[in-house]
Amino acid sequence: MLVAGLLNGSEVFVTLLLFLTFITYQLLKDYVHKWRELKPVPGISPTYPFLGNALNFKSNGRDFFCQVVGYTKEFWNSPLFKLWIGPVPFLILYHADTIETVLSNPVHMDKAYAYKFLHPWLGTGLLTSTGDKWRHRRKLLTPTFHFSILTEFLEVMNEQGEVLIEKLEKQAGKGPFNCFNHITLCALDIICETAMGKKIYAQSNHDSEYVRSVYRMSDIITRRQRMPWYWPDFVYNYFGEGREHNRSLKILHSFTESVINERTEYITYVESDSESDQGTRKRRAFLDMLLKTTDEDGKKLTHKDIQEEVDTFMFEGHDTTAAAMNWAIHLLGSHPEVQKKAQQELFEVFGESERPINTEDLKKLRYLECVIKESLRLFPSVPFFARTICEDTQISGYKVPKGANVIIITYALHRDPRFFPDPEEFRPERFLPENCVGRHPYAYIPFSAGLRNCIGQRFAIMEEKVILASILRYFNIVACQKREELRPLGELVLRPEQGIWVTLERRKH
Ligand code: HEM
Repeated sequence: MLVAGLLNGSEVFVTLLLFLTFITYQLLKDYVHKWRELKPVPGISPTYPFLGNALNFKSNGRDFFCQVVGYTKEFWNSPLFKLWIGPVPFLILYHADTIETVLSNPVHMDKAYAYKFLHPWLGTGLLTSTGDKWRHRRKLLTPTFHFSILTEFLEVMNEQGEVLIEKLEKQAGKGPFNCFNHITLCALDIICETAMGKKIYAQSNHDSEYVRSVYRMSDIITRRQRMPWYWPDFVYNYFGEGREHNRSLKILHSFTESVINERTEYITYVESDSESDQGTRKRRAFLDMLLKTTDEDGKKLTHKDIQEEVDTFMFEGHDTTAAAMNWAIHLLGSHPEVQKKAQQELFEVFGESERPINTEDLKKLRYLECVIKESLRLFPSVPFFARTICEDTQISGYKVPKGANVIIITYALHRDPRFFPDPEEFRPERFLPENCVGRHPYAYIPFSAGLRNCIGQRFAIMEEKVILASILRYFNIVACQKREELRPLGELVLRPEQGIWVTLERRKH
């Protein structure tokens, strides 16, 4: 308004035109620079100016993921290859040494553009933040994943595992059923109670509005990431799923906000009343630690900061573990000899007893841990993740300009026959300590690696062990699908297209 008041109509027009010309020139210059710099990097053809390889891509998410994995095989003898998605270049990495170059360099810590669509839900919490904010938060949050608090969470995991077993009991001996949702709701109950200290009874009431919104939101976001024409907010809001997105967002945020307020009041009450502290203390949750934590200047996190982290844990902390447990169930169900060995180990630890699992037991379940690791090798819950290259760099002799996006495909990396002979075979023994000696440290990275690795990995392994052990103590699993029928959907989290179909037989000890 002020500028328009000082200039007449034609001057405003000329200024606008100059501004647009300048922006177009800058974008074009950047595009031509990247095009030239990346020319020597192998790529698929045909590649058209501005459209890139977009005309070659399969339109649906599952086929696109299979296509990219197919390209990694085609380019296996190159250290990397490039894809142009419209005017944006992506370098695809699938070899341990090229991945090491990126992940071990603290300069390349920024997340790629597509993570921006998580911001309305997660704000800039640990997963999505960058620079000093990320460093500060990571330092503050690392102690909240300390071993002692994880031990307290073991109780929650055992309890929710019991609820799951009661539900599975009803399916045992009754022929094939899809266990995917049963496992997922169990993981959701565990994360709600451990992250927020709130029971949501997802396993018995799977029609909760909050639960529905978590799924709806993950769905909506992945769809938007695949459709560049919906990237601008105004297009998305008017022509895309913007309204549906905002409705789910409201439900998700008001739920976590009310839990945070409730918990703050509770903590204030407990701190002011030492008797109730002795008698009726609730279990600790991540949220309690976030409410109490202070930085080196004694400053607490604001409620908005805390909400970002709670929402992040809710998002990262249940779909990933649920998918991992489901894949492991399929693999155990299709490899009876592996299943028997895992059950033998459980028998050695628990005998006939039905007692809950404690931390000492967890340490003894070494073979089960190998099963979990091998399942995450074949089906990493996060099948790819991305970074922005923050300064000009060299990857295996190729110059990569600042601003290029890099996609790390763990699904392909984990199938490198140099480190995992007969890579499609399910062999938990690969992860026995003696068989890991000398393996490249970046050959197996289901939890990413380097400074921005997964903060929840010990929590995840613990949850998987408790739930899988509970199932294997009571049931024999028989898989009803062949590997080729599983058709992994490579979205944010790797899921089988039709779920996981199994039959369960009750075990007599
Ligand atoms: C099997 C289960 C899991 C797998 C495979 C997994 C995998 C990953 C991967 C690959 C990343 C890096 C993502 C990226 O760079 O974009 C990551 C980051 C993260 N994960 Fe997990 N995750 C799992 C479970 C969990 C759980 C249970 C929690 C929390 C309770 C969690 C919280 C996080 C957070 C907060 C980050 C961001 C860390 C940072 O940037 O500093 N994850 N996870």
